[in-house]
Amino acid sequence: MYCALIQSKNKMKNNSLIQQLNKIEEDAAKSIESVNSLEELKQFKVKFLARKSEFTAILRSLKDLSKDDRKEVGQKTNEIKQKINESVKLLEKNIKSNSLGDEIDITAPGVKIEEGHLHLTTQAIREIKRIFERIGFYTVKYPEVEWDWYAFGALNFPSDHPARDEWETFFIDKEDVDPKYKKRILTPHTSAGQVREMETGRMPIRMMNISKCPRRQLDVSHVLIHYQFEGLVIDKDITIVHLKGVLDYFVKEFFGPKRKVRIRPYHFRFTEPSFEIDVSCGSCNGKGCRLCKEGWLEIGGAGMVHPKVLENGGIDPEVYSGFAFGWGVERNKIMQEGINIKDIRIIYQNDIRFLKQF
Ligand code: PHE
Repeated sequence: MYCALIQSKNKMKNNSLIQQLNKIEEDAAKSIESVNSLEELKQFKVKFLARKSEFTAILRSLKDLSKDDRKEVGQKTNEIKQKINESVKLLEKNIKSNSLGDEIDITAPGVKIEEGHLHLTTQAIREIKRIFERIGFYTVKYPEVEWDWYAFGALNFPSDHPARDEWETFFIDKEDVDPKYKKRILTPHTSAGQVREMETGRMPIRMMNISKCPRRQLDVSHVLIHYQFEGLVIDKDITIVHLKGVLDYFVKEFFGPKRKVRIRPYHFRFTEPSFEIDVSCGSCNGKGCRLCKEGWLEIGGAGMVHPKVLENGGIDPEVYSGFAFGWGVERNKIMQEGINIKDIRIIYQNDIRFLKQF
């Protein structure tokens, strides 16, 4: 009798626990509907599952129940806990993807997107091309793997001339593969385009040849592959005055209106007379400073096309004359910026901190 009484008392307790749990489940389902933010979600979790919650109190009382009741009530608590946790997880995901209000301060300044730009060599090539196109030059492209003939032979270098070493050339062939064209090489200078241009039969010639020039030189003032640009003008009655005029024009356009040009006698195999070209120093305006040699900076070579070279290109030197000039793009660009670079190789090391400045 006593036993039966206790049992029925326990049964009642069990029933009321189940009722209590149902109520919790109902409340939770209702209350989660009004949760709109991560903060509210946190409070919701605390209210229903935390240590001091009604739910945890029921869990604690499980130990006082009979084995069977414990099983029943225990199952119900597990069910509720799982349901609540699942809806919390789902809602958390939704809140995070839908309302960014909690995560992002919309009044904060935006993150700047890094913008790239053309490499300084490309910038310079385009600028040089535009400058010459404005006075009637057209741009050509000739092979980067070239015959010895166009790079040296046709330009008046005798086959045993030591000047070939001076160019520090990369050779593709070990031996001559043709009696006239000789070996294949990597174009060491844009002057290789001169005779190729003459052979096209285009006349008058106003060529701008911009190309990669690999040379066997690598040190603080040389990169293995540098770019050169070469101008070639051939027509009737072309004189040094025209050459000087074109150089003046280029220097003022590229370096600035105050800059001056000076031509000094020099020697190249393929021009006669030949010159070295200087530009007045932009730092001291030609007065002389640490950057320059007594007010002048050397930029490159030039000269009147040698009659023999015209002949090699099939042009009659008695009728036509011309001039040529050419030098390195990278050095030109560095001089335009007026900066002093200790090691020119930095241009191609892809160091963003350096490249960003141009
Ligand atoms: N090609 C010569 C060099 O690489 C420069 C040059 C070009 C000289 C045209 C005269 C005429 O140094």
